[in-house]
Amino acid sequence: MAASPSEMTERLDAEAIAAVDTSDLLADVVGLPEHVRDAKWKVESAQLRPWDSPGGLIVAGMGGSGIGGMLARAMLGDHASRPILAARTYGLPAWTTPDTTVLCASYSGNTEETLACYEAAGALGARRVVVTSGGHLAELARADGVPVIPVAGGFQPRAAVAYMTVAALEVAGLCGAGPRMGSELDVAADHLEQLAVEWGADGAEDCQAKTLARGLADSVPVIAGSGITQPIAYRWKTQLNENAKVPAFTHELPELDHNEIVGWQSAASLGRFAAVFLDDADTHPRVQKRIELTRELIAEQATATFVVASRGITAVERVFSLVLLGDLVSLYIAVLRGVDPTPVGVIEELKGRLAEDG
Ligand code: PA5
Repeated sequence: MAASPSEMTERLDAEAIAAVDTSDLLADVVGLPEHVRDAKWKVESAQLRPWDSPGGLIVAGMGGSGIGGMLARAMLGDHASRPILAARTYGLPAWTTPDTTVLCASYSGNTEETLACYEAAGALGARRVVVTSGGHLAELARADGVPVIPVAGGFQPRAAVAYMTVAALEVAGLCGAGPRMGSELDVAADHLEQLAVEWGADGAEDCQAKTLARGLADSVPVIAGSGITQPIAYRWKTQLNENAKVPAFTHELPELDHNEIVGWQSAASLGRFAAVFLDDADTHPRVQKRIELTRELIAEQATATFVVASRGITAVERVFSLVLLGDLVSLYIAVLRGVDPTPVGVIEELKGRLAEDG
């Protein structure tokens, strides 16, 4: 049972974190830089040779596995030369052809939507690549001669985000949908190491990650992104759901200024809502102006508002910086609320019930 806001500890040091985070999810979160490096090796171990996919890349995957494709696309930005799209359901878009590469991403290898996309891609004659730690997907791929990019075992699927992102980025480069990003990944890993020290358990009590966690812990977070930060806003939302076990919502600018901004008018009378705007050096200047104005216009109705800027030079660094920050914020909120960030029992229960149903 979660602690009520009044019972929440304010401490976010290593001891307070370990008392709640009993499976040490924190180690996997701050392990992000090492995962980036290891993921590069894992892709190399699959010994893929470049090929040409004029139809672009579809990354088929759900939840913590599917997000990698969206983050990779954000990292490539304007450098993507072909469509890179996510498939997050039981089938592929109607325009999928043999000219399309389909990367089937499932940490467990047993996610039914991703397995359905794997079969659909095979039936359409699309080129397939799999990224997984095992399961049925690995068995099928090995039987079909489809290349498998391996992922280290023993993680929560959402903690393998670097593996899924790097695999999608590298496959995009291999199939001609974007440039290869090997050296950007090395630089990003070094940068992430510094950020993990700054924001990690031994970081200052008033570091950005801990400050944000305290500011959001007793509210429903509403995360806004735009362009490169849009999939990161979604990652924050899903990590807040799964780690902190709170409802959280996401929307994108400028679209939210045409609808959601009006809903904020009633926010304070309905509950406690806090707004986070993710910002980046590449955010359109008019969107940056909108962040400033939107924040001002909703501030009275929000328990708190934050503008959070990415850190780093390259898009790979900047995207990963905000992923790390959001992952830590969600984990720290779990600690403040007294809930173990690791288990996601209801997801497992749902999958179990679906399996019973055939
Ligand atoms: O974080 C989670 O556990 C989920 O979002 C899973 O990633 C999702 O259910 C898909 O499972 P998998 O990643 O094993 O394909």
